[in-house]
Amino acid sequence: MYPSLHFMKLYKICYTFAQRLEKGLLAALADKIPCMSLDAFQQIQHLLEEIEQAQPQGAEEVEQFRLRFLGTKNILKPLMGEIRNVPNEQKREFGQLINTAKERAELKYEVLRRDQEAAAESAQAAHIDLTAPGEPLDLGSRHPVAITLNRIVSIFERIGFVVAEEREIEDDWHNFTAMNTPEDHPARDMQDTYYMRNSAEILLRTHTSSVQARVMTSQKPPIRIIAPGRVYRNETISARSHCQFHQVEGLYIDKGVSFADMKQTLYYFAREMYGPDTRIRLRPSFFPFTEPSAEMDVSCFICNSKGCNVCKYSGWVEILGCGMVDPQVLLNCGIDPEVYSGFAFGMGIERQAMMLYTITDIRLLFENDTRFLKQFGAAL
Ligand code: DAH
Repeated sequence: MYPSLHFMKLYKICYTFAQRLEKGLLAALADKIPCMSLDAFQQIQHLLEEIEQAQPQGAEEVEQFRLRFLGTKNILKPLMGEIRNVPNEQKREFGQLINTAKERAELKYEVLRRDQEAAAESAQAAHIDLTAPGEPLDLGSRHPVAITLNRIVSIFERIGFVVAEEREIEDDWHNFTAMNTPEDHPARDMQDTYYMRNSAEILLRTHTSSVQARVMTSQKPPIRIIAPGRVYRNETISARSHCQFHQVEGLYIDKGVSFADMKQTLYYFAREMYGPDTRIRLRPSFFPFTEPSAEMDVSCFICNSKGCNVCKYSGWVEILGCGMVDPQVLLNCGIDPEVYSGFAFGMGIERQAMMLYTITDIRLLFENDTRFLKQFGAAL
């Protein structure tokens, strides 16, 4: 059957249109277009050209471009509806064409948007007032406990002590039994702590003395360690005591270590920590893991021993417990007390930090209030 005249006319229009196409795809399509969808094809082609050639200037025009091609009521939408009028065999190509237009519009808009942003940024940069005051960075500061602890550790490191860090979740043996504090020992009462719900054997260590047992069972003498760390006790929290605090433990085991060695070591520490004129005083005391045991006071560095609140007008401040390692502790840890001897000491950090920085409430050290912590920015 020959095509009608009307059809021929349409076909010709189509053909002319196709010739004008730059892209081969449409040319091929248009070649085959038989009838009424011509308009829709033509419109898309025009839109494609429009997208390609559009050169919106400024944010407003870019927005206009977006609304026209990508907005909720964009111009491509009604064209989609036209697909009904496209012959079946060309529906796919028609759809593809619309998608192409959409993709190109998206691409173009993205480029335009970035250009806009860059332009806005450089416009802003051009307006930077270099004389305006800057925004100060909030510098962090060391925690007073960390400052005190670091000072103590470095004093001992200078005379050959090595840092030993150990677990805070400890077992009963290392925390108590090995340290000569068996289950029925009354000294345990003073160090009540937190136990794991599923095992009475596992607890939060009550002192850094547990590190002594850890080190002595895993290293051979000579041993010369300093063990800083956090410890826990079941204490009611108040201005003076807390359920968590820090200690530094010291342990020196070798052949022929004497009480005189201990005294001189601690005297050196006291002068390094609290000034060259500091004096020390050892008072007899009791600890299950040392024999003999002592408590050490330093001459009050606040009032120079003249009498003040800190030393309670005694001229002395207690800072640590110490003693010769009990032979039973050496035996418990597999070290022969006939061959080796040693001394140990343990001190609390918070109390010393509080004295050094005149802090009157221990809770301040655990609240992380930056108004408090900021005051230590200048301290090292
Ligand atoms: N562990 C003791 C406490 O927490 C302190 C202490 C005393 C440690 C004497 C020692 C020592 O190593 O010899 O109270």
